[in-house]
Amino acid sequence: MNFPFEPYKIKVVEPIRCTTREERCRLLHEAGYNLFQLPADGVTIDLLTDSGTSAMSDSQWAGLMVGDESYAGSRSFYRFEAAVRSLCGYRHVVPTHQGRAAEHLLFSALVKPGMCVPNNMHFDTTRANIEYREAEALDLVVKEAYDPHCELPFKGNMDVGRLEATIERVGPDRVPFVLITITNNSGGGQPVSMANIRVTRQLLNRYRIPLFFDACRFAENCWFIKEREPGYADVPVREIARSLFSLGDGCLMSAKKDGLANIGGFVSLNDAAWARAITNHLILVEGFPTYGGLAGRDLEAMARGLEEVLDEGYLRFRVGQVRYLADLLERGGVPILKPIGGHAVYLNAKEFLPHLPQFQFPAQALAVALYREYGIRGVEIGSVMFGTRDPHTEQSTHPNLELVRLAIPRRVYTNSHLMYVAESVIDLLQRRDSIGGLLLTYEAPQLRHFTARFEEAALAETSVHSAGIAVLPR
Ligand code: F0G
Repeated sequence: MNFPFEPYKIKVVEPIRCTTREERCRLLHEAGYNLFQLPADGVTIDLLTDSGTSAMSDSQWAGLMVGDESYAGSRSFYRFEAAVRSLCGYRHVVPTHQGRAAEHLLFSALVKPGMCVPNNMHFDTTRANIEYREAEALDLVVKEAYDPHCELPFKGNMDVGRLEATIERVGPDRVPFVLITITNNSGGGQPVSMANIRVTRQLLNRYRIPLFFDACRFAENCWFIKEREPGYADVPVREIARSLFSLGDGCLMSAKKDGLANIGGFVSLNDAAWARAITNHLILVEGFPTYGGLAGRDLEAMARGLEEVLDEGYLRFRVGQVRYLADLLERGGVPILKPIGGHAVYLNAKEFLPHLPQFQFPAQALAVALYREYGIRGVEIGSVMFGTRDPHTEQSTHPNLELVRLAIPRRVYTNSHLMYVAESVIDLLQRRDSIGGLLLTYEAPQLRHFTARFEEAALAETSVHSAGIAVLPR
């Protein structure tokens, strides 16, 4: 057997609603061809995100019942705090309702206008929260990360040479901290090696710059370290995680991923003064420090999730299931980003739809077609998410990669659901010439991908390359 089977039995089921193509065409039109705007009821297999979409275990559901809803000093908080401390080893634990709230709190305390925050690669909310503070969010991942064919075991690694050059260029005083995102979501769910983190740490020690992890998918990253990095095959994942966190000064966490919870997050760190500043701000915007915008039962679910996620049988299956989908797609000739990441398979839209120019948003067009034909929802990670348009000159910029991420929710879909997904994508590949591009008709000033609206470009226009102006006149 090539792939591990699901290491759980199914105790509760949720029906999946099937839709017709006609209904999906109508829903797409109403949604302005933005899959974030679709009603989830109209989606058959939802691979939009692995965030907040996990199936909780029987133990987590039982935990909800014993959640302590006291405003102050909740028993569930202390359980949660102990779980985070034993995982990360940092002194202070500040609960937040999700990852971006943790970002907002940490950045409010440490990031000032004109500063620069390097990361291997910022996620969209991380970048937006830094830019919101009028600072620069720099991506310094190794250059191979931008080559969808290059197979490196740790393609999420920080380019330490460029990091050093950046610190020298801007001056250490303007770098409040460095982030490392594990795994690198925006770059294909690629892991970062322990060796790379250690070298980064040594460099930052020289400049006295703190190191934080964006740790949403820490367990998947640690599993890759166990599988791929020499010397770790026999080390328990929990110990790998402990060593990894010990190289940092703190972390930001969206527990909606490797916390196996539907909501929740935290900041954990060693510095008492920063913890105090964050806690005071938390009281203003999130809630009292022993619940941080969450119900006591959510803290209980997170505490249990953070332990379950380190189960090696679970992790072997988790990473194996993503690889299973990728293998089926590759056998069908589908161009995908290599190597396979921890939480998602990324379709390479530039190669899938070579007839579409980037200004017609090939990755968005592919995601739309996948939904229209089969009811499968993925997410665009390309020009819509990371492109920009200057409102004065109307000139657009586009990122290197045009990807459609098929994110696999944790413990939700079986391998046969993924077989349906693979068959659908392979079928679409045969008919790719019929897929037309899209034109942007509305965008918000920040995080435009959530609310952007599009119109279908006529197929005939599709092969006409223009000066890169992608937006319809308003
Ligand atoms: N950092 C990374 C690397 C993420 O992937 C996310 C969320 C966040 C921070 C923010 O966390 O959603 O709890 O506020 N990623 C989700 C995704 C939304 O679909 O990849 P949040």
